[in-house]
Amino acid sequence: MYKYGRPLNFQRWIDDNAHLLKPPVGNQQIWKDSDFLVTVVGGPNKRSDFHDDPMEEFFYQFKGNAYLLILDRGKYERVDLKEGDMFLMAPHVLHSPQRPEVGSMCLVIERQRPNTDIDAFQWNCARCAHLVQRYEVQLRSIVADLPPTYERFYESDLAHRTCSHCGEVHPGRDATSWHRTLTSNHALE
Ligand SMILES: [Fe+2]
Repeated sequence: MYKYGRPLNFQRWIDDNAHLLKPPVGNQQIWKDSDFLVTVVGGPNKRSDFHDDPMEEFFYQFKGNAYLLILDRGKYERVDLKEGDMFLMAPHVLHSPQRPEVGSMCLVIERQRPNTDIDAFQWNCARCAHLVQRYEVQLRSIVADLPPTYERFYESDLAHRTCSHCGEVHPGRDATSWHRTLTSNHALE
């Protein structure tokens, strides 16, 4: 009946899992094997991948500030998640969550994907925003399925990380370098 247990105290759960809500783990799922994938994500974390989720995603930035880098019709945009903000994101919005603040925390709710719905992770050029690589994944676990996808891109050779539009080389796992190029080429609003 209570498949996911009795009600639990959110603050107590945060306190008990505080060691996992920072690098190198950075996030933790509250209930296992549920349709709602309820996770808490902590900072600091910087990334360069964009996620194409076939389902909606809910964000509640309950501690500190973060932002989503959005890629919309070939243009980068910034959506701030300020402390206290909630945001419900439509399916297939290309997004890259950025969590620069130490100790920041966000409640994120996703849904299990039906077998017909495919996720994708993609990397775009920091200079011209052109697509560099995109990998489609039938996502079963947001914990287990992501790292191999990242590694596949990070370990790909230079040719696979070179922008076919402008020739810029994507720095792979060096997200700091990617963000440096991004901010020097784009005024993000
Ligand atoms: Fe480019």
